[in-house]
Amino acid sequence: MNPDLQIIAGNWKMNLTLSQGREFLAALRGLLATGAVRRRLMLAPNFTLLSGLAAACRELGVVLAAQNCAAAPAGAYTGETSTAMLRDVGVEYVIVGHSERRRLFGEDDATLRAKARAVVESGMTPIFCVGETLEQRQAQEALRVVMRQLEFGLEGYPAERLVVAYEPVWAIGTGRTATPEDARKMHTAIRNFLVRRFSFGSEVPILYGGSAKPDNAAALLAEPEIGGLLVGGASLAAESFWRIARA
Ligand code: PGA
Repeated sequence: MNPDLQIIAGNWKMNLTLSQGREFLAALRGLLATGAVRRRLMLAPNFTLLSGLAAACRELGVVLAAQNCAAAPAGAYTGETSTAMLRDVGVEYVIVGHSERRRLFGEDDATLRAKARAVVESGMTPIFCVGETLEQRQAQEALRVVMRQLEFGLEGYPAERLVVAYEPVWAIGTGRTATPEDARKMHTAIRNFLVRRFSFGSEVPILYGGSAKPDNAAALLAEPEIGGLLVGGASLAAESFWRIARA
């Protein structure tokens, strides 16, 4: 798959059953037959759907991603899913540090650092999420917060494969999107951080996420530092996912 193409990644969160996932892919197949997409398509379904959707995703050229993983490689961690298990069913990317994981499940920088490391050590690529809350933005702290998340979360990061996603928390699931200018500012700051920190920093795709929709995708994707979109709500129906990918 061409690494220069923008990524359109659907994060299904805790939505869609296996049969609904199959229906989604059947619908997507139909849509792709009417109009091809010149972007890299990626889907992050729930764990229970991954192995059942892997073959259909492969056929459609859709890259399979997971929404989370354990940091530990194996052992007595009831309810957890290891990176080896994900890799084994065809997962190539893992979302690490989504704001819902940070906020609802208390995942801190040290945990996320360990998860990102586990992902690369299993041969996959993390989609490392950062983003400020509304209060932090209103207090003019957005830049500092995001740089700190990168600084601590990617400390000692061991590989040359990485995707970063900027997802302002106030834009996730709220219908409020960052303006292309807001996104540009933050993406440029993230790029500068990555270039300073890593020899491969200029090649890391930086995705935008937060109420990305068919009608705002084109403006966001026109920004030179926006390497793609991480889409929640609007990725749950094949048609809107496809329209975003075509935007
Ligand atoms: P949203 O979610 O598109 O529904 O705002 C984005 C995300 O949380 O990745």
